[in-house]
Amino acid sequence: MKYLRASLPIIIVMLLLPAPAVAEDEKPSLYERLGGLKAISMVVDDFVDRLSTNDALNANPAIAAGRDTSPAPYLKVQLSVMVCEAAGGPCQYTGLAMKESHAHLNITASEWQTMLDLFKTTLDKSSVPEAEQKELFAIVESTKADIVMME
Ligand code: HEM
Repeated sequence: MKYLRASLPIIIVMLLLPAPAVAEDEKPSLYERLGGLKAISMVVDDFVDRLSTNDALNANPAIAAGRDTSPAPYLKVQLSVMVCEAAGGPCQYTGLAMKESHAHLNITASEWQTMLDLFKTTLDKSSVPEAEQKELFAIVESTKADIVMME
């Protein structure tokens, strides 16, 4: 009883204090929200299929030649691992840096836009929610300066 009386003011103060804000790192990572590597690999599969069969992109001879040096299954593996890591997943990308793998492709701003449109189609078709789409577009956008070489 004596102890209860002594600690009563402390208990009252604790009850009056605002609840601590949920720490930012308690929010599930983008990787988790997307559904992990299986879901990411499905999205990448659809996206790379659209990219590699797109007539506007393949009209660029350097891009078309790149399809032979880096076949679609290889690109799908590398891109899945890259997105997995960038989204906070347990993967480690060991492929080439973006400048190294794209500089020789002479990618233009209009080809970049074509790629963004195809990515949007894939994400909508895969029912990726708007908030997660935004985060994925930010990851893609962060590579633009290393990939787009021409206006
Ligand atoms: C218009 C946009 C893009 C086009 C046309 C394109 C096309 C290509 C092509 C043809 C290759 C193979 C190059 C070669 O072997 O000579 C390649 C490699 C690759 N691309 Fe892209 N790409 C684009 C944007 C992106 C973006 C936005 C990402 C990532 C966010 C990305 C990730 C990769 C990766 C991981 C590789 C493999 C690198 C390696 O070989 O280790 N690409 N891309």
